[in-house]
Amino acid sequence: MTTSTALQAATDTATRAVGRTAKVIVVIQQKGGAGKSTIAVNVAACAGRSAVLSNSDEATGSPVVAAGIDVQGTLEKWCAGVREEALPFDYVVTKSKTGILPSIVADPERRRIIVDTPGFMDVDPDAEWGADPLGKSRTADALREVLEVADLAIVPITPSKITWDECEFTIEQILKPRGIPFLVVINMHDAGKDKGEKQLNKVKAWIDERNYPRVADPIRRYTIHEHAYENGTLVTEYRMSGTALNAREDFMRVALTMEQML
Ligand SMILES: Nc1ncnc2c1ncn2[C@@H]1O[C@H](COP(=O)(O)OP(=O)(O)OP(=O)(O)O)[C@@H](O)[C@H]1O
Ligand SMILES: [Mg+2]
Repeated sequence: MTTSTALQAATDTATRAVGRTAKVIVVIQQKGGAGKSTIAVNVAACAGRSAVLSNSDEATGSPVVAAGIDVQGTLEKWCAGVREEALPFDYVVTKSKTGILPSIVADPERRRIIVDTPGFMDVDPDAEWGADPLGKSRTADALREVLEVADLAIVPITPSKITWDECEFTIEQILKPRGIPFLVVINMHDAGKDKGEKQLNKVKAWIDERNYPRVADPIRRYTIHEHAYENGTLVTEYRMSGTALNAREDFMRVALTMEQML
């Protein structure tokens, strides 16, 4: 990055949040299936749980909003399936329409807006450094709109190498040129299979070699997460068990680390 682009990026970050109370957190990773939707919905649940407890004014909307920008509306469908009293945040349907998110971002009642994004497959892998590789599509426009107001990006990666290149591409080609601070989170650590944490240590070393900030410990792989979408459940609502507590702790840790970076 040249000095002038680095300066521009720093200025972009500084001006991003001026004049609003809401912080925008975008969950982004080019590779499909790394856990973006699972992380967006559960981090919103953890943030919403803490926010609701400290917010006595029930008349206003929730300080935490979850939004999805994919045309399929994964996040909205997930939230729609959750019992209303169990949902500690508001959610919004955009289906890649632009113009909806900026009005929520400007709402002074909102504190955290957590945005789920689709795996963006139509990128130009040979795009020049600093050039926008997002291409031309409805989804790309929606993504650009979110990135313009994003205060922090959460980038999931898995112990399996299948997501590593895309993690790097997302950070180097999408986030760094825009000056968006980011946080890498390891998802789907299989404590039962990865004896001695060999695989986990490899991915941690790969992240640390690049000096990418990361959540200290991974989100573990649990079967309960796999059925959460169809069951309309959030990590804050899992029926109490040892696994449920561990699962909740994993997402609470992400939410806490996120808060420290905002
Ligand atoms: N920690 C986990 N443990 C077990 N299963 C998980 C975990 N995280 C995600 N999954 C499962 O992996 C699959 C992919 O997760 P998810 O849909 O959140 O990924 P995504 O990045 O949003 O995918 P896409 O790019 O297609 O939108 C889902 O079936 C989900 O239930
Ligand atoms: Mg998804």
